[in-house]
Amino acid sequence: MTRPDQTPLVTFAGAGPGAADHVTLAVARALAEADVVLHDRLVGPEVLALAGPQALLIEVGKQGFGPSLAQETITGLILGFAREGRSVLRLKSGDPAVFGRLGEETAALELAAIPYRVLPGITAASAAAAALGQSLTERGRNKELRLVTGHDAEGYSESDWAALARPGAVAAIYMGKAAARFIQGRLMMHGAPAETPVTLVENASRPEQRICPATLATLPQAAADLSGPAVILLGLAPRAGATALLEHVI
Ligand SMILES: C[S@@+](CC[C@H](N)C(=O)[O-])C[C@H]1O[C@@H](n2cnc3c(N)ncnc32)[C@H](O)[C@@H]1O
Repeated sequence: MTRPDQTPLVTFAGAGPGAADHVTLAVARALAEADVVLHDRLVGPEVLALAGPQALLIEVGKQGFGPSLAQETITGLILGFAREGRSVLRLKSGDPAVFGRLGEETAALELAAIPYRVLPGITAASAAAAALGQSLTERGRNKELRLVTGHDAEGYSESDWAALARPGAVAAIYMGKAAARFIQGRLMMHGAPAETPVTLVENASRPEQRICPATLATLPQAAADLSGPAVILLGLAPRAGATALLEHVI
């Protein structure tokens, strides 16, 4: 099922971390053209405003591992609209391939023999690091970057804590607020110093963005203070030169 221009009817796309100017041109075009937009709760009104007047917008409610429509219901909607010949944009926050359960939805389309395409987006870790003026990898500091979830369907999520506790390790921890004390305990158990820098970035890229510099010792208190979506950057502190950002630092 492709359109005359060979674009498949179903597009999976990343809306970026929130700000409309972090949406790629390809995703903005897909938004303008889609008949139906099935979006996660974290995709805000500024981005949805890029949808065309013909678009039917349906929130499918996913936010981290919080309440949402059942995965089968979401898949059923995508398949149903595509079978009616309507172009469907499945819009996820950040990048659809980072903690976005993209594989489960694309597998369902493959089973149904419906072609699709994937358009990437800016993931929360990239926007958060940019807010600190930081590089996620740096010669002489870290040759690898881990994207970790604090929480999964089973509860607090285990990671390779020994690797994350090594000097210079950098990780972006998604969905980590509620697991902050657990993460602190695991890292310290594996020898990470209490003064390891940890920065929490809430609502990265949005006007209400907050940057909370902390250490492993103060991580749980810093996390408890946040109410919006946040990414925890382990091993990174705001760069001193990123002074333009100071008004957002708490
Ligand atoms: C289900 S994951 C989706 C991640 C998304 N696919 C991405 O690439 O950014 C949801 C988590 O992403 C993080 N997140 C999403 N948007 C964010 C933002 N604007 N600022 C900080 N963290 C964000 C939070 O950790 C949130 O709990």
